[in-house]
Amino acid sequence: MNEPLRVGVVGAAGRMGTLARERISAADDLELVAEIGSTDELRQALRDTATEVALDVTAAGLGAAHGLEMLEAGVRPVIGTSGVTLEENEALDAAAREVRLGGLVVPNFSLGIWLLLRAAEEAARHFPRFEVVEMHHLAKLDAPSGTAIQTAERLAAVHGRDPADVPIHSIRLPGLLSNQEVMLGGDGEVLRLRHETYGLSCFGPGILAALRYARAAEGVGRGIEHAFEAAGD
Ligand SMILES: NC(=O)c1ccc[n+]([C@@H]2O[C@H](COP(=O)([O-])OP(=O)(O)OC[C@H]3O[C@@H](n4cnc5c(N)ncnc54)[C@H](OP(=O)(O)O)[C@@H]3O)[C@@H](O)[C@H]2O)c1
Repeated sequence: MNEPLRVGVVGAAGRMGTLARERISAADDLELVAEIGSTDELRQALRDTATEVALDVTAAGLGAAHGLEMLEAGVRPVIGTSGVTLEENEALDAAAREVRLGGLVVPNFSLGIWLLLRAAEEAARHFPRFEVVEMHHLAKLDAPSGTAIQTAERLAAVHGRDPADVPIHSIRLPGLLSNQEVMLGGDGEVLRLRHETYGLSCFGPGILAALRYARAAEGVGRGIEHAFEAAGD
């Protein structure tokens, strides 16, 4: 058996960071070697701990820059932080290939969102008019969500359209955690595909699958499907 994969968590004290630390600590094939926060120097902390794969779950907009710093430190990035654009993802991919490393950008770690995207892509072939509604808790700072942007990108690609032309509606209310609906309109009918979450635990299996996938990844792809498909799910 391989030595346990040496994993660092960036944003370790946050909600996602806490979940990730718990799940990594409970996995026999992973070892939590670095718990990094906003007052640490990222590259130094990664080098000091000989981290092999690092998970970034910090603040929206920081993911791409952190991914580049990880690669500079010889570490494979898994970026769960919201807001990594397609262009930034491509830049990460190119930088990783230059140093023969890999990783993954994951706008959403949940199994249900992956399946929603697959179903919505199929539905969009038949219903060319669609809109995305995302609903989140008040503490979510970014709007629209990274998942909604990824959904718009994937559905627009079905028809070769610009993702900016897919309307996204963002709702922030107390009581909500994280839900997303894709509505597709046809002649006298509407199809609603809806994903609901009831706890952060829905992200746990995806986080572990992404870390394991990153160990041998070539380049930096986008989407949890890479990890679930590699794991045979
Ligand atoms: N991909 C997914 O499936 C998924 C799911 C849920 C959430 N998210 C995203 O994940 C991110 C984190 O969400 P959360 O709910 O865990 O947020 P959170 O509870 O606010 O935690 C964020 C953590 O990141 C730390 N941080 C901020 N800037 C940092 C920096 N420059 N370097 C290191 N650490 C830094 C914060 O520390 P300080 O308090 O010291 O600033 C805090 O501990 C958000 O972008 C969110 O949208 C993604």
